[in-house]
Amino acid sequence: MIICRTINELRQAIRQHRSSHLDSKVGFVPTMGYLHRGHGSLLERARDNCSLVVLSIFVNPLQFGPNEDFERYPRDEKRDLEVAQSAGTDIVFLPQVAEMYPTPTKTVITVSGVTERLCGASRPGHFDGVATVVSKLLNIVQPDFAYFGMKDAQQVAVIEQMVYDLNMPVTIVPCPTLREEDGLALSSRNVYLSDEERRQAIVLSAALADAEALMQDAAGLTPDRLQAVVVERIQSASLAHIDYAEVLSYPSLEPIDSFEGADRIIVALAVKFGKTRLIDNRILHIP
Ligand code: PAJ
Repeated sequence: MIICRTINELRQAIRQHRSSHLDSKVGFVPTMGYLHRGHGSLLERARDNCSLVVLSIFVNPLQFGPNEDFERYPRDEKRDLEVAQSAGTDIVFLPQVAEMYPTPTKTVITVSGVTERLCGASRPGHFDGVATVVSKLLNIVQPDFAYFGMKDAQQVAVIEQMVYDLNMPVTIVPCPTLREEDGLALSSRNVYLSDEERRQAIVLSAALADAEALMQDAAGLTPDRLQAVVVERIQSASLAHIDYAEVLSYPSLEPIDSFEGADRIIVALAVKFGKTRLIDNRILHIP
């Protein structure tokens, strides 16, 4: 496994692979590190489909708000490299902030529409930071495929829109959410949870399971009613504070009055336990 800390080193390593493999396929997995099995599943998917697997680990300051957890975001380079290696990664890109942003960027990518609600509304500027860093990384790596988790479904919608609008020559591959046995979606931020918060955090996946069960027989059900059931379930956990719990069309992420005419919907949640904000979602097909 090759470790690159500069853009030049990385480009050189990828160029070398491309020049020695006529039918090279470069797969790219961008992350902020503190890797878990969810990240591992993206790397394995890339390993299955590509001749070169590139992983980036970069905690991107541009996507954190002033009162968010950029400084205390968990970091463990040694362990990350072990996880990367065992998932079959070929190249790890580990830039410092000064390598990615030698001067404050004057170019920012803003994707409108799909960023209006959910995390776009509750974390102003967040998706500008995500879209800007992902477009920089895609320009640096120039992969054939880039792998993203549906745990961050709105992020997938934002990146797909950006790639489409800007004709970026890459295929975005959305991948399923990996969960703990009790249903909690794997997240680097789960380590922040106290024991009691961790116990109560299963309410997110439980509420999504309730929503899925209700949608089995959607006759007479409205999006408002579905949302109310989900909210009530989350509020049954005493430590949970809802940031949002919304039922929207998917992938356009717009409010809907009824399920008629909708093909797929998303039930999307952001819930705080103490200072820790967890997100989860489920995409449901209308029967
Ligand atoms: P990060 O939160 O580290 O996530 C990196 C990738 O792993 C994302 O595509 C995310 O959706 C995916 N992922 C996280 N948890 C997952 C799970 N439980 N199952 C499957 N996939 C999961 O998302 C980011 O970093 C950043 O915004 C980034 C795209 C790297 C831009 O800075």
